[in-house]
Amino acid sequence: MTRPQNAVLRSVVIGLGSYLPKRILSNADLEKMLDTSDAWITQRTGIKLRHIAADDERTSTLATHAARAALAEAGLEGKDIDLLIVATTTPDYTFPSVATQVQAAIGMTGGVAFDLQAVCSGFIFALTTADKFLTAGSHKRALVIGAEIFSRLLDWKDRGTCVLFGDGAAAMVLEAQPGGGTTADRGVLTAHLRSDGRHFSKLYVDGGPSSTQTAGHIRMEGREVFKLAVTMITDVVEAAFAATGTTAEDLDWFVPHQANARIIDASAEKLNIAPQKVVKTVAFHGNTSAASVPLALAAARADGRIKPGDLVMLEAMGGGFTWGAALVRW
Ligand code: COA
Repeated sequence: MTRPQNAVLRSVVIGLGSYLPKRILSNADLEKMLDTSDAWITQRTGIKLRHIAADDERTSTLATHAARAALAEAGLEGKDIDLLIVATTTPDYTFPSVATQVQAAIGMTGGVAFDLQAVCSGFIFALTTADKFLTAGSHKRALVIGAEIFSRLLDWKDRGTCVLFGDGAAAMVLEAQPGGGTTADRGVLTAHLRSDGRHFSKLYVDGGPSSTQTAGHIRMEGREVFKLAVTMITDVVEAAFAATGTTAEDLDWFVPHQANARIIDASAEKLNIAPQKVVKTVAFHGNTSAASVPLALAAARADGRIKPGDLVMLEAMGGGFTWGAALVRW
């Protein structure tokens, strides 16, 4: 392909799809199981309900539903995809990957499929990785999925964690398209990833194949995570603004990781992002880890908020710690 001078390849979003399991667990349901209250959960987190996977559903089941929906919106089939990345911390099996199972399920016969684990930042990490493949010109169309069944990692006796999380999946189809090299281009304009392994003990799962040979349960120092989250998020979003010469004023939408409404509000305020530009869906699915950002995107697309040409800032932070931000023109 000959390209004009200054032209670049951009990873343009051409499809989105999501899937939430049917079973709903409300705060009222949790009141019957634990010493907690709807008032406490709502006030501290903004969460009202979460979806819980059925016994016969696996992460690959959720991911495949979301993938099919995203492919349908893009008008494509599995065979049209040459890169599939599933961001997940809750795979069906230690191996093979969820991605290769989805690959088979959607009839993607070529290309490459792999999982990526960055916990709640997983979707931003997977999107950034896909963007590198697409803009390098080695791959043409990517399916990036965030899919989790966090309910199976929860200690249902620990009220400090089990009220926060839920299950779900969402998928995005991206296509390499030529752009002019400016922020007027459609597609991923910049992406920034960070990690700092010193924070292990603040948010982790106390099991795994090489330690306990069990899947383990989530352990968290909630207050510590909260304190660091706002600083980390604002820092990496500022980096995305600086790299593109854009500001909060230029944004049409801020689509943050849906962990906690108070973290979202505090981050938006620190970044001077107007409240009406903030997409918040945490009330309706809780923290779905790697699925949270694309679930929020899918909701804001479905109800007509995000339109072609809109400038959208995505961000997330999670265990590790890992955190990242991506600026995308729809
Ligand atoms: N219902 C009722 N009370 C609860 C409770 C629940 N579900 N969970 C904890 N509490 C209690 C605690 O036991 C504690 O009681 P005590 O004062 O008698 O000891 C009290 O509430 C305050 O606990 P604390 O953990 O200090 O509350 P908090 O204001 O920090 O809120 C979180 C807790 C988890 C909501 C908050 O820290 C948070 O959102 N952290 C970030 C978590 C997150 O988003 N993690 C994922 C990042 S990807």
